[in-house]
Amino acid sequence: MNWIEQARRLKELPPYIFSEINAIKADAQKRGISLLSLAIGDPDLPTPEAIVRKLQEATAKQENHVYSPYEGTLAFREAVAHWFDERFKVKLNPETEILALIGSKEGIAHFPLAFVNPGDKCLYPSPGYPIFQTAISLAGGIPIPVPHRAENGFVPDLKEIESLLVLHKPKYLLINFPCNPTSAVVDREFLSQLVFLARKYETILVSDNAYSEMYYDENDKPLSILEIPGAMDVAIEFQSFSKTFNMTGWRIAYAVGNSKLIAGLLRAKTNIDSGPLLAVQEASIYAMRNGKALTEPIRAVYRKRRKIILEGLDSLGIKYLYPKATFFVWAQVPGGEPSMDFAKRLIEKEGLVVTPGIGFGKEGDKFFRLALTVPDSSLVDAINRLGRAIRK
Ligand SMILES: Cc1ncc(COP(=O)(O)O)c(C=O)c1O
Repeated sequence: MNWIEQARRLKELPPYIFSEINAIKADAQKRGISLLSLAIGDPDLPTPEAIVRKLQEATAKQENHVYSPYEGTLAFREAVAHWFDERFKVKLNPETEILALIGSKEGIAHFPLAFVNPGDKCLYPSPGYPIFQTAISLAGGIPIPVPHRAENGFVPDLKEIESLLVLHKPKYLLINFPCNPTSAVVDREFLSQLVFLARKYETILVSDNAYSEMYYDENDKPLSILEIPGAMDVAIEFQSFSKTFNMTGWRIAYAVGNSKLIAGLLRAKTNIDSGPLLAVQEASIYAMRNGKALTEPIRAVYRKRRKIILEGLDSLGIKYLYPKATFFVWAQVPGGEPSMDFAKRLIEKEGLVVTPGIGFGKEGDKFFRLALTVPDSSLVDAINRLGRAIRK
């Protein structure tokens, strides 16, 4: 059946860089090496028991077995409005400014279908979560990377952003702070400048805030872009339950922001899918109503893990960006070796799997990402393996 061919839009996507890593992992396993992976961006911790109980109750109700409203239930959207007011002091209209999603990845991937015409340019972060780039390409847009450089603490240069806005007149500028993979965060002043630029150059501002609750210090709580005056005219923000409440598999998230942007995304989605499972929305309402109490124990676990891994990296002389949020540590490859070679060597020699920075874009080479999604004892094991590998 050699006439069965994937469409150009798929063939033209960047190669899946991690397939090389997967092959090396399989080979190491065959050779009897025990693998330890710090490459998994999926919490090892369970969803809080009280949320699971709510889901069990909600799935038993027959009225929850039907299609759910495209935009999410009003009760879900009201709970989002309440949470946003409590957490960010932002007032949202549940009727027009909130939309339920089947995961924020779903929303980010569908958003360009609503607003990007073939040939339109869009700015995305590099290094960044790979879907940012591919979502633009799949919609026929032209992805333009915004470099996040090591010398600026992996925060983009506002002057460079302004030049890119002038040069490319992009449909949107996508930002992701706290950032996957670097963990970089930005302050109110920086976000205010971005809102100013988005308004000045009439560019949509898309903020992926999937890690807003994964902070380490109460004084460093990440902001919502919607806290910035004027942002509501130009911005949409994606929020997720996945990492916040250890609910990655539940597929529930939401978008908030400008009503025209929400309406466009809703229109695209209406033609593609239905709303998230009603029972999941019910359990998520409970999660939001008890947000602070449910997330603090999760943050406490990562605080301890961060300490173990940072002390370990310090003892090995490996430099890193001090993480103020996310469960990622973005560290420099010792000796300046390309990140893919380094990652391969770690697997072959010690069975330690890390994510090579090149997988997130050109600016990520020379760095690697560690995910704190394993127990304390495995983090100690990882540091020992890392130490042995760099001494070999
Ligand atoms: C930056 C970022 N945004 C969005 C997502 C997608 O999360 P979800 O689709 O589970 O809400 C991820 C997942 O790893 C991520 O790292």
